[in-house]
Amino acid sequence: MSDAVPLLTVEELSRHHDGGAVKALDGVTFAARAGEVVALTGPSGCGKSTLLSLIGLLDQPTRGRVCVAGQSLATVRQPGNFRLQYIGFVFQFHHMVATMTLLENVEAPLIALSLHRAERRERASDMLAQMNLSSRAGFLPANVSGGERQRAAVARALINRPSIILADEPTGNLDSHNNTIVLNLLLAHARSQGALVLIATHNPEIARAADRHIELCDGRLLA
Ligand SMILES: Nc1ncnc2c1ncn2[C@@H]1O[C@H](COP(=O)(O)OP(=O)(O)OP(=O)(O)O)[C@@H](O)[C@H]1O
Ligand SMILES: [Mg+2]
Repeated sequence: MSDAVPLLTVEELSRHHDGGAVKALDGVTFAARAGEVVALTGPSGCGKSTLLSLIGLLDQPTRGRVCVAGQSLATVRQPGNFRLQYIGFVFQFHHMVATMTLLENVEAPLIALSLHRAERRERASDMLAQMNLSSRAGFLPANVSGGERQRAAVARALINRPSIILADEPTGNLDSHNNTIVLNLLLAHARSQGALVLIATHNPEIARAADRHIELCDGRLLA
């Protein structure tokens, strides 16, 4: 795909609830290119998480459309496969499988890809090493620190080398040291893989590090 074609286009996107009484998102339009880091800002309830959910196919719009690499998400028949191919999610509160070690959690997205077990293991171990988590690979999520868990969540989001990372307040429960670590890992991924990173955040450090801002208010884009 040429650099001139946006990786992501969002056109007149709306998500209403309760028969239109709640306009979580209301006619939002923008485009973003591969390799960009975009901060999604605005007050609580302005629609940031709603927008990320629609782009990640966790929710369906009331109106409008999202295209990824030129394909309208309305035509995606297998959201799970689409996410595996294109999307990595990082949430504020990691969703790790409690009964699996960090290594197994990070490896899990690769199981759906037809990789040999040894290759999966190697890739997951390498990714944990990049997050400085090698010594924690065999631990369950409950037995590591919050910062370590969140770094493992980033490792899991990046393991399938997605072209779009959707991060919803990824450093919300971290101290400033771990905040910087997680932020830098996301930025490094955007730069090295040419991925688009969309980060919903209230954190000024993250907002400053982004290439540009998209600011929402009451479900609408601020000019
Ligand atoms: N299922 C739902 N039913 C009704 N209203 C909803 C639903 N989901 C979200 N909303 C409302 O839509 C609005 C946007 O919510 P959203 O979670 O996208 O905000 P946000 O910008 O992520 O806020 P925060 O910064 O607090 O995470 C809010 O007013 C929220 O209460
Ligand atoms: Mg939110």
